[in-house]
Amino acid sequence: MQSPAQAVPDAHVMPEPADPTAEFDSVRSSTPHELSQDLLLTTVRTYKMRSGRVTSSQRAALDGVASRYDVGGWEWGRIHDRAAGREMVLDIGFGFGDSMLHYAAVEPDRFLIGLEVHIPGVGALCRDAAAAGLENMCVANVDARAWLASTAPPSALAGVRLFFPDPWQKKRHHKRRFIRRPVLDLLAGKCRPGAFLHIATDWADYADDAAAELDSSPAWDLQPGIDHRRGRPVTRFERRALADGRPVVDLVALRV
Ligand SMILES: C[S@@+](CC[C@H](N)C(=O)[O-])C[C@H]1O[C@@H](n2cnc3c(N)ncnc32)[C@H](O)[C@@H]1O
Repeated sequence: MQSPAQAVPDAHVMPEPADPTAEFDSVRSSTPHELSQDLLLTTVRTYKMRSGRVTSSQRAALDGVASRYDVGGWEWGRIHDRAAGREMVLDIGFGFGDSMLHYAAVEPDRFLIGLEVHIPGVGALCRDAAAAGLENMCVANVDARAWLASTAPPSALAGVRLFFPDPWQKKRHHKRRFIRRPVLDLLAGKCRPGAFLHIATDWADYADDAAAELDSSPAWDLQPGIDHRRGRPVTRFERRALADGRPVVDLVALRV
């Protein structure tokens, strides 16, 4: 894969990345039930297309310190070597990396793998991780579903965090939600028995749907109870949700 530094052209304003799957969208919308699991995992976009504006400090990080963290997203061997025997926890869609920074600092015995499709976030996390002197993480600018399907070996992960996934509120967009049964099955295959899946969302119906999907999956045991925060830091998404009157729900499931 390209390193984040290689992926950034000589401009501070990034063009909108091409969506290689866009031409399939109309087909998918009309017949989602007919699509194979493989197509659903790799072609229905789960993230919102956002401006790719990269700030000068993110750009400097992408051109510099990113090489310390981008170990080659598609090369499991390099990730494995860097982890050096520490258990590995995945952060899917880390945004600007607030939770990665927090957990890397408080969990030095774990190795964190962060996946994010939004390049400014990759730059921000690399910049801030280097400033904090954190070494127990790597990042990749990839679609997490493709990475899980192609790169992560079976039973490799001790945990998975998915905080504030894009909510896709309209019914016709629900197929874009990250938590769907095929993805839960894929995740289960990459998690060792006892591994955790921690989801946080400020959209009540997303939480209800995710809980129902987890309940229906024999590979995941949804944990009862109310305090599943597990040290999750307050990030800008939570602050905004609370300001808008939307309480945050944390769901935790364990790999059977
Ligand atoms: C609403 S943001 C939340 C960011 C962060 N987890 C937090 O709590 O601050 C959702 C993020 O998930 C990323 N994302 C969505 N689908 C993704 C995928 N399939 N692979 C990697 N990142 C994804 C988006 O680019 C976006 O940055």
